[in-house]
Amino acid sequence: MTLLRAIRAPLGVLSVVSCTSAPPATRATPATAAATPASNGQPAAAPGRRVPLSRDSLVKLRAVYIAQVMAQIAGKENQPAEQVFKNVQVLKGITAAELVQKMDKDYATAMSWNCTNCHRFAPQGNFASDTSNDKRRARFMQQMQNEINLSQLPKLYPKDTPKVTCATCHRGYNEPAPPEYLLPERGKPGGLPLLPPRPGTGGAALDPHGH
Ligand code: HEC
Ligand code: HEC
Repeated sequence: MTLLRAIRAPLGVLSVVSCTSAPPATRATPATAAATPASNGQPAAAPGRRVPLSRDSLVKLRAVYIAQVMAQIAGKENQPAEQVFKNVQVLKGITAAELVQKMDKDYATAMSWNCTNCHRFAPQGNFASDTSNDKRRARFMQQMQNEINLSQLPKLYPKDTPKVTCATCHRGYNEPAPPEYLLPERGKPGGLPLLPPRPGTGGAALDPHGH
């Protein structure tokens, strides 16, 4: 799979290039537009490439599953997740409602996924099944993240320990961005804004960690 991705990544770049440089006449006749719908004004994908659903559409699709789960657990929302649900191995010590929120706002948002990417039988109301490789990978990721946040980072920052989240690495993609996709520099177009001056420094430039 990793090999496949390694091959696919450069191809993706090529197809974007060929797509943007294609003469307008070859683009988006009604027939091809139906086969490869353009989303949100982005160039239509090359034939055979999957166009991911927009984040707004995913929010709507997930809302249906969230409502379904909240109806199943009505009255038990504030009980511990590991007691309300059947197969919670890592996300213990939060309430059932908090687990559902985490699935939506944290897991699915970080990956730009629907619930069904990890819960194959969500349409049947079954979220406990571990059939999906991606669900098992996500559980591993949660354990890895706990190790970083609860064991490793406190060694460096015993006070006000910072935390990594799924989005720290995934940032809305199922695979973390490669280093070629560094953000533009702070203060430059497309980059994050410059930090506000630290009080008492007379506006001297700061590094992001305040060192
Ligand atoms: C990236 C993968 C991923 C996505 C996307 C995801 N989940 Fe989960 N879900 C998991 C994992 C992993 C667990 C088990 C956590 C554990 O073992 O501590 C879980 C557990 C659950 C459980 C407990 C099931 C039980 O009986 O044990 C429910 C309910 C649930 N998810 C609902 C949802 C809903 C609703 C969505 C969409 C809003 C969603 N999940 C999206 C990975 C995911
Ligand atoms: C420290 C960085 C980091 C954090 C934090 C992290 N991930 Fe990952 N994750 C990765 C990397 C790297 C991969 C491998 C991507 C690849 O296949 O190339 C990955 C892969 C995955 C995959 C498999 C995706 C695929 O297409 O193969 C899932 C699912 C996943 N992560 C879910 C999560 C969830 C859910 C969280 C939060 C609980 C999380 N990750 C937190 C770095 C991270």
